[in-house]
Amino acid sequence: MGRRIAVFGTGYLGATHAACMAELGHEVLGVDVDEAKLAKLAAGELPFYEPGLPAVLRRNLNSGSLRFTTSYEEAADFANVHFIAVGTPQKHGELAADLRYVDAVIESLAPLLTRPAAILGKSTVPAGTAARLAARMRSLAPASEQVELAWNPEFLREGFAVADTLHPDRIVLGLESGRGAYAEAAAREVYATQLTADTPFLVTDLATAELVKTAANAFLATKISFINSIAEVCEATGADVSMLADAIGHDARIGRRFLNAGIGFGGGCLPKDIRAFIAMAGELGAGQAFSLLREVDGINMRRRNKMVDLAREAAGGSFIGTRIGVLGAAFKPDSDDVRDSPALNIAGQIQLQGAAVTVYDPQAMDNARQLFPTLQYAQDVPTACTGVDVVLILTEWQQFVGLDPGELGTLVRSRSVIDGRNCLDPRAWREAGWKYRGIGRP
Ligand code: UDX
Repeated sequence: MGRRIAVFGTGYLGATHAACMAELGHEVLGVDVDEAKLAKLAAGELPFYEPGLPAVLRRNLNSGSLRFTTSYEEAADFANVHFIAVGTPQKHGELAADLRYVDAVIESLAPLLTRPAAILGKSTVPAGTAARLAARMRSLAPASEQVELAWNPEFLREGFAVADTLHPDRIVLGLESGRGAYAEAAAREVYATQLTADTPFLVTDLATAELVKTAANAFLATKISFINSIAEVCEATGADVSMLADAIGHDARIGRRFLNAGIGFGGGCLPKDIRAFIAMAGELGAGQAFSLLREVDGINMRRRNKMVDLAREAAGGSFIGTRIGVLGAAFKPDSDDVRDSPALNIAGQIQLQGAAVTVYDPQAMDNARQLFPTLQYAQDVPTACTGVDVVLILTEWQQFVGLDPGELGTLVRSRSVIDGRNCLDPRAWREAGWKYRGIGRP
C-alpha cells in the first residue's frame, strides 16, 4: 500500500516528483497556487517539454492515484507526507536565492497540521534554511512537536527527469538533530522501491543535506568551466580539447562526463545555484573559499563572448549587413528550457551588433520567442539557414548532429559553420566544403 503524499509546487521539479511518486504506487496530490497550471496538468498536459513524463502523468491521472488542487486544507487533510518542491530563483539584482516560495509553503501549510506528519524539502536552498523553517513550522503547527521537517534534495536533470526520479544515483535525507524518526520512516516508505533496488540512502544532518545539493552543482559547474579554460589553452596551442577530454576522461578519478567544452552551462539550476552558494558563503564569513566559484561563473560567461567573437570573425570582421543562422535555443538538448540559455544569449548579442539572426530549435521556440521576441524565428533548419553567412550550432540536438552538410551547403550564402558544442564531425563538414570552427579545436 502506498502512502498519501502532497507535493507543493508543480513546476519542473514538483510536477515530475508528483507524477513519479504516483508511478511508484503512492496516492499523490499536487498543490499549487497557479490555477491555470493545475488545469493543464489535470488535463494531462505539461507546461514544459520532458521526454517520457506526459505518459507517466496521464497514466496516473487516469488511475486516480494523481490529482491536483489549490487547497492547502485538502492537502493537510489528505496527506501526512508533504514535499516542498517550489522554486528558489536568483534574487533580482543579487546573487542570493529568493526563498519566498519556500517560506510561503510553510506559512500556509503549518497552521493546518493537526496530526503527526513529515515535511520533506526538495527545493535547493542555502544551508541553514531547513533549520529555520523547522523552527517556524513548529511555532505555527497545532501538532507542533509531532511534525518533523527533513531535507531530501533533488538531483534530477532536465531531459532525464523521470529516470532520475525513479532510479536516482542516491537518496539523501537530512534530519533535525535529536528528532527525525517519523520523517525517516516516512521517507523509507516513500522510497521503498528504490531502497529495495539498493539505491544508496544517506542520512545526514539538515545542513549537510542542503549542502550536498549545492556542492554537487558547484562541482559540475567547475568541471565544465575547467574544460572550457583548457579549451582556451588548446586554442592558443592548436590542440584539440575533445580528444584531450577523451584521454583524461579514461582516468576513473576524472571521468569523461561533464567534460564537453563549448559555450558553457546555463539553465534554471547551475548558474543560480553557484551564485547562491557564493552569496551564502559570504554571509557565513567563508567567502574567500568561493573565489573559485566566482571564477567558474566568469569563465562560463566568457564563453558566450568568445562565441560572439568567433562568429564575427567568420562573418568577415563585422556583423553589419550579415545573416546568421542559429541552430539551438534551449540551454541543452531534449529540453524546451531557455532560462539563462547560452544559445539565446549569443543570438541576442549578435543581433544587437547588427546581424539579421534567424533561430530554430526543435522544442524551445515558444519559450525563446517569449524571452527574445525581437529575434527572427524559423520553423525548420532549412529556413533558418537559407542565405546565411554563418551557421552557429548552439545546442547539440541530435537533429543537428545528424545534419547532412552537403545538403545544407546548397542553401547558405557561405559555407561557414561554428560548432559551439563540439558535436559535429569536423571532417565530414570540411569534406563537404565547409569552413568548420569548433571550440578549442584546431
Ligand atoms: C543540473 C544538474 O545536473 C542536476 O543534477 C540538478 O538537479 C539540476 O541542475 P540541468 O540543469 O538539467 O541539471 O542540466 P545539466 O545536464 O546539468 O546541464 C547544465 C548545463 O551544462 C547545460 O547548459 C549543458 O549544455 C552544459 N554542459 C553540460 C556543458 O556545457 N558541458 C558538459 O560537459 C555538460
